[in-house]
Amino acid sequence: MKRQLPKRRDLAPLLTFKKPTLSPKQRRLASALTIEDLRRIAKRRTPRPAFDYTDGAADGEVSLARAREAFGDVQFNPAILRDVSKVDTSREILGSRVALPFGIAPTGFTRMMQTEGEIAGATAAAAAGIPYSLSTMGTTSIEDVAAANPLGRNWFQLYMWKDRERSMALVDRAAKAGYDTLMVTVDVPLAGARLRDVRNGMTIPPTLTPRTVLNAIPRPAWWMNFLTTEPLAFASLDSWSGTVADLLDTMFDPTVTYEDLAWIRDQWPGKVSVKGVQSVADARRLADVGVDAIVLSNHGGRQLDRAPVPFHLLPRVVKEVGSDLEVHLDTGIMSGQDIVAAIAHGADFTLIGRAYLYGLMAGGREGVDRTIEILQGQIERTMRLLGVSTLDELEPGHVTQLMRWGPR
Ligand SMILES: Cc1cc2nc3c(=O)[nH]c(=O)nc-3n(C[C@H](O)[C@H](O)[C@H](O)COP(=O)(O)O)c2cc1C
Repeated sequence: MKRQLPKRRDLAPLLTFKKPTLSPKQRRLASALTIEDLRRIAKRRTPRPAFDYTDGAADGEVSLARAREAFGDVQFNPAILRDVSKVDTSREILGSRVALPFGIAPTGFTRMMQTEGEIAGATAAAAAGIPYSLSTMGTTSIEDVAAANPLGRNWFQLYMWKDRERSMALVDRAAKAGYDTLMVTVDVPLAGARLRDVRNGMTIPPTLTPRTVLNAIPRPAWWMNFLTTEPLAFASLDSWSGTVADLLDTMFDPTVTYEDLAWIRDQWPGKVSVKGVQSVADARRLADVGVDAIVLSNHGGRQLDRAPVPFHLLPRVVKEVGSDLEVHLDTGIMSGQDIVAAIAHGADFTLIGRAYLYGLMAGGREGVDRTIEILQGQIERTMRLLGVSTLDELEPGHVTQLMRWGPR
């Protein structure tokens, strides 16, 4: 082999140094390439009770693990030699166009995860052209979210309280504030057993014990935010001091039935979606009641543990009711690939819960932007590699669900 001394002319193009990013937050977020990376950053920066409240699920956390595993067990079947120079990820959902096939799921007590809370979620969603869902258990008011997101789409998630008049007053406020969809959550007749919260002594608002103080030492930014911004409280509920599970059990009505749902639907001027559907039979009954969408969901595994995996249920539900209403899906989504797989199997739309909260905890509004950016990149790349350029071209043949578990 003939060797030579490197010439200055040949070295110059190799010696290009990246301009350093000054903001530590930008550096931190740019280093996250996956939602799992954002989760790791979130864990480092958030006190344990708040992180575990978000990250955890019910009982043995089997529902959540299986849901994630089901997405992991997907085999993509690409088609070759298609023109995929352009890709369009938009579609019509509940009456208007969304830029991406996912929206932000309703999550309670969001300012506890990171102080920018609901406003970060709503403004990031608006900037990306996707819907934002505000929970009944939110920590920012219906009107403040609407004001922060005047051009975006807001959905209001309803938990029916025992005091129906007060619940419907919330629904009324959401309609007046311009929310276009009412999402009624039906899988919480009582709270699931969130054991991490019990073990951590998680209360609302967080209480200072010797353990929380020790845990706070390496997480000064969270505590600084917590202590110097508006005190944490539910925006639509009375103040509460106790555990979330006790709150749910005290406030929420376990007697709600299909008849009540039809009544709620008649009170709402916009679209109605029902969240927490877990069987083909219930999907059929809801189609007969005449709602606009259902969300196949087991609440991110936070309610009934070992519940059906929504992604497994999806093809049968789409076959039964797909032409009567929109079928949305959540639980376990940690990547754009998961979303593409759900759309290929017939979901019209998906929702992300934790994926958004990990971003929020990792970096507030910019962290949520990063979550959306990561998912968008993964969706676009996966679609193009599969040989499709629109969501409507995705079909069940693009995805084989490899089953580890099946009913005997
Ligand atoms: C911290 C947290 C709080 C939640 N709060 C609510 C809520 O107030 N109302 C509701 O309908 N669902 C709530 N959910 C469930 C989400 O809307 C969604 O169904 C679930 O997070 C989807 O699973 P994923 O986290 O794996 O994406 C919550 C989920 C989390 C993680």
